Amino acid sequence: MSASSQSLANKQILLGVTGGIAAYKSADLVRRLQDAGASVQVVMTPAAQEFITPLTLQALSGNPVHTQLLDPEAEAGMGHIQLARWADLVLIAPATADFMARLAQGMGNDLLTSICLATKAPIALAPAMNQGMWHNAATQANLECLIERKVIMFGPAEGGQACGDVGPGRMLEPLQLVDAAAGLFTPGSLAGKTLVITAGPTREAIDPVRYLSNHSSGKMGYALAEAAAEAGANTILISGPTQLKTPARVTRIDVTSAQEMYEASMAAAPDCDLFIAAAAVADYRPAQVASQKLKKGAEDSITLTLVKNPDIVASIAALPRRPFTVGFAAETEQLLEHARAKLQRKKLDLVIANNVGDTQIGFNSDDNAVTLVDNSGIQALSQRSKTQLARELIAILAGRLDKHPASEQAK
Ligand code: C5P
Repeated sequence: MSASSQSLANKQILLGVTGGIAAYKSADLVRRLQDAGASVQVVMTPAAQEFITPLTLQALSGNPVHTQLLDPEAEAGMGHIQLARWADLVLIAPATADFMARLAQGMGNDLLTSICLATKAPIALAPAMNQGMWHNAATQANLECLIERKVIMFGPAEGGQACGDVGPGRMLEPLQLVDAAAGLFTPGSLAGKTLVITAGPTREAIDPVRYLSNHSSGKMGYALAEAAAEAGANTILISGPTQLKTPARVTRIDVTSAQEMYEASMAAAPDCDLFIAAAAVADYRPAQVASQKLKKGAEDSITLTLVKNPDIVASIAALPRRPFTVGFAAETEQLLEHARAKLQRKKLDLVIANNVGDTQIGFNSDDNAVTLVDNSGIQALSQRSKTQLARELIAILAGRLDKHPASEQAK
């Protein structure tokens, strides 16, 4: 989809600009939104005006830029309530860490936060900040809170930052934001649905420098997350440590251990329609994590006592208002028998079985072939790229979700 396709024809977009260096891209964004057919009203926070002048955005949008909450003249014209009602979408780009914190707190201490409180339109944020600020526990907690309240996240992307750091926190490019905004109005097969997906390995600490883990690359889970976002789902990816980039329009929550993945999944699952467990979760973790690095002793062998981790997907399937719940069965033998056993034992709606003993497909490869197993039978999808396979799986799952009673229980 491109901006020239008028993908936002007749849509009224309230563009909120907050105080980050990426605010200079908002000027281009105004133009791109208009090229796609949207009417744009711009609201700037005081901090945003330190980076770019209201005059620039006024000239580009063709409308006066709104900056004051308590300006009698402005309120007499298009005040915060009128702006909140006017918008088909409130898009905040860039959204700083400070703005996310204020939004999460429900504050209304400037025009933009007041509009966010008053509007019935969807609110989408394009976060932009230093990677350290993005990873900060407070920002991550605010992110989780906003996602829970159905605020939509566009990005952030990863890469070089204005401060010289490299990592997540870059604002998506204007055209990507236009596409993402258009996607909200163009219903895909998963439009209006929320998907939570786990991916990648987990790491179970032995001591401060050692851990138990596995060879999962996370590629299949990330491909599914990308395909789901393309299909219009509000997609939350709960990821163990991987080398992969976050797909566009996917909100990623980083975890390390199985316990952390369990907690993030249980927090996100009650609000979702579809849960896919693609992570290779460690079944066991060391019973004790040594506080200091373990030293080599005289013994020729030592024993590590392991305790069982919670089964994440089974816990989701056991929720009273469960989402449609899908697990993977990565096996090296007796694929279908193990997959059927998993379907029953974990009370899943569907199992995606794949043979990880085959080096052409599975764990680290770019290709995969799978067999879908549910109570009605099996369906084989032959070898193809993980991206293609993911699109097909998402299309199949969207079809099942429409028919399945579990999808109604989630709402
Ligand atoms: O039992 P097994 O690990 O073979 O089951 C695999 C499926 O269960 C995968 O979907 C995996 O993501 C999920 N799983 C989980 N939590 C665990 C173990 C596995 O969600 N502790």
